[in-house]
Amino acid sequence: MELRKAIETRTSVRQFTSEPVAKSDLQEMVRLASLAPSVNNYQPWSFVVVTNKELLRRMADAVREKIHALPENSSRMSRVVKKQVEFFATFFENAPALVVIATQEYETILEKGVTLTHAEINEMRNSPDIQSVGGCAQNLLLAAMDMGYGACWMSAPLIAKKELEAILALDSTLNLMSFIAVGKPLRQQLPREKRPVEELIRFVE
Ligand SMILES: Cc1cc2nc3c(=O)[nH]c(=O)nc-3n(C[C@H](O)[C@H](O)[C@H](O)COP(=O)(O)O)c2cc1C
Repeated sequence: MELRKAIETRTSVRQFTSEPVAKSDLQEMVRLASLAPSVNNYQPWSFVVVTNKELLRRMADAVREKIHALPENSSRMSRVVKKQVEFFATFFENAPALVVIATQEYETILEKGVTLTHAEINEMRNSPDIQSVGGCAQNLLLAAMDMGYGACWMSAPLIAKKELEAILALDSTLNLMSFIAVGKPLRQQLPREKRPVEELIRFVE
């Protein structure tokens, strides 16, 4: 698929057919994702690809439990809101595949030569590890699309970050960052409406 068309027609897919995603396709998506730019080319990412239904259910249960435990405010909408959030945070359990992206600590050149801590430099640079994962995740979405799949980037499940890290037996040096649910779209979807570029841009000439 032509890149511009992929960018223009991409949309988040949250409902999938039961068709499995070939392991080779998942590996290729991750390979393409990992070609993204990253801070100092540190490539501070690591991927766990989950297709095991039982594990996906356990992960979704951990997320559900956290959402249920959130204190409700007095609004009559509270229950409805929680139910909605529950869907947006747990639908990955019905996806044929889930790509989990985690990051590891990166080194900056600066920290080798000044007394600032890694955390201070990270703040100064506005979390370049998180920024790097953004490019990586977007590559993965576009790669999935190019290969005939649909996908959705997810951060809501991270409400159960610690529990998910344990279920996934994530190495303690890794920091769970994003989920990408992948599969064949259940139905064709039109892309969401976006703000016109004229509203977003300011040229300084
Ligand atoms: C960082 C990030 C986190 C997101 N987290 C979730 C999520 O947890 N659950 C979900 O259903 N969608 C999630 N999304 C998808 C957005 O809701 C979606 O991109 C947005 O509504 C625009 O729709 P589009 O992707 O179809 O253009 C996330 C997207 C991004 C970029």
